[in-house]
Amino acid sequence: MRALITGVTGQDGAYLSALLQKQGYEVFGAYRRSAAPNTTNLKRLGVEVEMVPFELGEYENIKRTIDKVKPDEIYNLGAMTFVSDSFDIPLYTTDVNGMGVLRVLEAIRGKDIRLYQASTSEMFGNAAPSQNEDTPFVPRSPYGCGKLLAHSLCRNYREAYGTKVSCGILFNHESPLRGYEFVTQKIAYGIWDETLELGNLSAKRDWGHAKDFVEAMWLMLQHDPNDFVVATGESHSVFDFVNAAADAAGQKPEVVINPKFYRPTEVNHLCGDASKARDYLGWEPSTTFEELVTEMVREAKCSISTSATTQKKSQLTKSAPIQSNGIQADQSA
Ligand code: NAP
Ligand code: GDD
Repeated sequence: MRALITGVTGQDGAYLSALLQKQGYEVFGAYRRSAAPNTTNLKRLGVEVEMVPFELGEYENIKRTIDKVKPDEIYNLGAMTFVSDSFDIPLYTTDVNGMGVLRVLEAIRGKDIRLYQASTSEMFGNAAPSQNEDTPFVPRSPYGCGKLLAHSLCRNYREAYGTKVSCGILFNHESPLRGYEFVTQKIAYGIWDETLELGNLSAKRDWGHAKDFVEAMWLMLQHDPNDFVVATGESHSVFDFVNAAADAAGQKPEVVINPKFYRPTEVNHLCGDASKARDYLGWEPSTTFEELVTEMVREAKCSISTSATTQKKSQLTKSAPIQSNGIQADQSA
């Protein structure tokens, strides 16, 4: 079996690559052009995949890549994922997260390829918890709106053309590979500092572990096309996360509220009901909230210590800083 994973350099891309390789898949990792493609997450999990260029903004590029790789399954994880930034770059976000998915759907129309689309609990906005597949979508950010466009198009292509697409409505999932701007990773690192600047502490999220959640993605493509909520069913506030991290670290910084981290419109409370995924797919999360927080806090500490040691070593071994052109700088000036 051949699988193409878009957004392979991200958190879920790395965990899913590891899972699919374990299942015997040939995995192709789709990455977008950059001066220096970042394979840090894949390396941290010891995963090597064949990397292929892929840009969600460019139809011909998507089509060429799919025609070349000839995948049996595509996992579309590529997206602009930071909700806060989507208020600053709404056009770009909607193009990549919404129209980008339409480009993928067009590229596979009529082909025997199964598609997983990374939908999100952010589409629920402030709909009352707990949220399931029947809960109305009332998104509160350009990110959520773009994702809802993609979600609606996937359902339409499934009904209109028989496209074998399944959408996973995933609630927040985290890990030591999480991007640094997301609140959990910010806390996991910041808990070791003297102060920690945050925004809205009362927002509640249903936080699970990415390694559990990618299993649900794979299971969806082994069943008839459908949509599934994937969640733990337990929610905690940002404030709770700080306290759990403090317990895990054995220390607590001063928490400073900085309104610059507030959003123009906030999603207050997400808590998912994943009964359908449990009943149809046999999926259940295996990591508790406390285990997740502890793992993230400990890994953050290791990575802070490692980078401090590396910095110290390079200061000791370097007689003068090396310039970007590789020439040793003249310190006498
Ligand atoms: P992530 O770590 O931020 O990774 C996003 C990936 O998308 C990165 O590999 C990124 O590439 C790639 N990408 C960004 N713009 C692209 C473009 N124009 N063309 C092609 N690739 C592009 O996100 P994640 O947490 O793994 O999430 C995976 C997917 O699940 C996303 O679609 C996200 O919206 C969705 N989701 C996530 C969660 C969650 O809690 N993690 C919950 C629900 C849904 P670079 O490395 O070059 O930036
Ligand atoms: N990022 C961030 N930084 N969030 C903060 C901060 C802060 O300093 N302080 C409070 N928060 C609050 C946010 O206002 C939000 O209510 C909550 O913490 C979670 O924020 P994020 O970690 O940025 O995640 P998110 O819930 O907005 O979005 C994530 O989950 C979605 C699924 O519901 C992302 O992974 C999305 O891509 C994903 O779709």
